[in-house]
Amino acid sequence: MSDKDAGLSPQDILAELEPYRGRKGAYKRELGDRGLLLLHALCDGSLQGAMEFLGYAQSRSVPEAIKNNWARLGLSVKQRDSSPAMPEPWLRFQGGESTEELHKRYLKATSGADRAYEYSWELPRGRKFARLVLVADTHLGPRSMDYPLWVQTCEDIACDKHCRWLGLGDYFNLSHSGKHTESDPEILTFEQCFELALHTMRPIAPQCIGVHSGNHDRRVARQAQLDFDPVQALARELRVPYLGYDGFVRYTLTAGKRARSYTGYHHHGLGGGKKRGYTLNKLAEFAETHRADYYAMGHLHEETIASQSAHRLDKDGRVELGTVLLVAVSSYQRVLSGTHAANVNVRPAELGASIIHLHLGEPKVVAEGKDE
Ligand SMILES: [Fe+2]
Ligand SMILES: [Fe+2]
Repeated sequence: MSDKDAGLSPQDILAELEPYRGRKGAYKRELGDRGLLLLHALCDGSLQGAMEFLGYAQSRSVPEAIKNNWARLGLSVKQRDSSPAMPEPWLRFQGGESTEELHKRYLKATSGADRAYEYSWELPRGRKFARLVLVADTHLGPRSMDYPLWVQTCEDIACDKHCRWLGLGDYFNLSHSGKHTESDPEILTFEQCFELALHTMRPIAPQCIGVHSGNHDRRVARQAQLDFDPVQALARELRVPYLGYDGFVRYTLTAGKRARSYTGYHHHGLGGGKKRGYTLNKLAEFAETHRADYYAMGHLHEETIASQSAHRLDKDGRVELGTVLLVAVSSYQRVLSGTHAANVNVRPAELGASIIHLHLGEPKVVAEGKDE
C-alpha cells in the first residue's frame, strides 16, 4: 500500500472493495493497481481468499494473473491461515461464522456417537410383561386404506392404559404420481391425511414410545427436493419422540420391585420381496448388524414373526440358549380389485398391528399369545 493508504483499517479496505465483491475483474478495471493493492491487503496475500471474494469458482489463469500483478507491485503471495485468530474481515453478515467458529462447530458435530432412545416403562405391581403394540404402514390417503381397522387399533391401545405403541413409518401414502396413482388415487389431500393422523393418534400420544418415518412419508418432499419430513412434523404436533428411519430403543421396565431392561431395534424396512423368505432374510440381516432382544420392521405389508436362537454363555459360564424375536409388521393397506397391487398379484395379507410382550420375570420377548 502507498503511504497514503497505510493507515486504512480492514473495515476501510473492505468498504472500498465491497462494491466489487463477486464481480470478478471489475475491481481491476475500475480501480487499477490500487484495486490490486487493496485486494492483497484485504486477503492478506491469499490467492484463495482473493478468488473467493471476487466470485471465481474455479480457474487456472485467474490466480496466475493476480499473482503476477501482485509480484509486479512487489507483493508476495501467502498461504491463508487455516485457523485465523480473527474472523475474516469480509464476513458479509454481522454475526457470521468465522473459520475458527465453523471448525469448532463441525468438530463438535462430528465427535458425537449415535445413541439409543431410552424409555422408562412403569407397570403395576404384579404385571408379568409389558405389552408393546407395533404399528406400520397405515398409508392414509387412498381408498385402499383400512381406516376402520386403524381406528379400532387406536381404540384398543387407548383401552389398555399400560400398553405402549411404536410407529414404524409410512403413515401417509402420498402417491400423487407414479404407477399406483391411476388405479388407487389419493382421495384425501395431504393436509386432510395429516389432520386424520393427528385426530386418531392424539388420544394415544401419551402411550407412544416414538414414531419412525417411512419411504412413502417422504415421497412428495423428495420429488420436490424439499428438506421436509411430515413424520417429524407429526411427532412435533403430538409431542412424541421422532425416531428417524431406524434406531435402537432401550427399555427399562419396572413393576413393583421387579425390573428388567431390553433393547429393541427398529427399521422402517427396505426392498420389495414378496416371499416370506425375503422378509426373514431382511430381519436376519438386521440381527447380524445390530445387537438387540427384538427386531421390528414395516414396509413389506405382511406380518411375519420368527425367533432366532444362538448358544451363548451366562454369567457363570454355562451354555444357554439366547433367543431374539424377529417381527415384520403388517399394514393397513388392502389389495383391492382393479388396483395396481391386484394387477401385479400382491398377496392379500391379514392387516393390523403386531403385539409383543417384554417379560419381567425370565428374560424373553415373545409375540402375544406365545408367552408359555
Ligand atoms: Fe408401506
Ligand atoms: Fe415403505
